[in-house]
Amino acid sequence: MTKFENQLPVLHHLAIIMDGNGRWAKERGLPRVAGHQQGVKTLVETVEECLEQRIGFLTVFAFSSENWGRPQPEVETLMGLLVEFLAAQRTKMLERGIRLKVIGDLERLSAQVKQSLQQAIRETDAGDTLTLTLALSYGGRDEIVRAARRIACRVTAGEITAAEINASDFEKSLDTYGLPDPDLLIRTSGELRISNFLLWQLAYAELYFVDVYWPDFGPIELRAALESYRQRRRRFGLTAEQMTQEDVLSNNAS
Ligand code: IPE
Ligand code: IPE
Ligand code: MG
Repeated sequence: MTKFENQLPVLHHLAIIMDGNGRWAKERGLPRVAGHQQGVKTLVETVEECLEQRIGFLTVFAFSSENWGRPQPEVETLMGLLVEFLAAQRTKMLERGIRLKVIGDLERLSAQVKQSLQQAIRETDAGDTLTLTLALSYGGRDEIVRAARRIACRVTAGEITAAEINASDFEKSLDTYGLPDPDLLIRTSGELRISNFLLWQLAYAELYFVDVYWPDFGPIELRAALESYRQRRRRFGLTAEQMTQEDVLSNNAS
């Protein structure tokens, strides 16, 4: 499939920075945990809408490497919500063909969380409708450093020479190996930054920032983001004229 059909950009992979749970709760006089609970509901709805929209890949930023620095009770709440989410969504994931994937430094997660994740990943392995990737204990810089380390080990082992390292090798060493690059990145809550998310992979993603907090981000807001994406004209460094040529379109196919 090409990235363009009838000159309109096709969306294979949607990435989301789910931000604003704490502020959503604070505005309602509730504890931050209430915002995170509501945020999980929004994630469930978003997965539903992605299935509806036939989006093949959804990657969500659920917990960053920097989020480990938050107060311990909040970290524990977030980990507990993750385990609950996996248990509650198990049947749906299997029925709907959702394949679960995780990116990030999983070594830092507790044994219980790791086990829940491994089980869900194993059970949903055959899913071929939607790949849901959770970025957990994830930082883009950390991922790049870990990739560099893996390649350095291959050089040390004599499998490749330093001069042979190319972008394709690098991509294969990233946690996201096997996923296409995101076409669209959405960030909720009004913040205009990437916060160390998918630094390598977002190179040519279209960006969409929206003021609503994540718990208030519903199907209507998601459809508005998709509509904005459809109006974009992606050029990947080429000219607009080149982008209308068939051969360029197929060269940019993913
Ligand atoms: C996003 O919401 C969820 C996580 C980072 C885990 P926040 O918890 O960052 O909410 P705000 O940004 O403080 O409102
Ligand atoms: C990014 O949000 C991480 C997640 C949504 C999981 P943060 O709330 O941690 O980012 P900053 O601190 O506003 O940049
Ligand atoms: Mg935040």
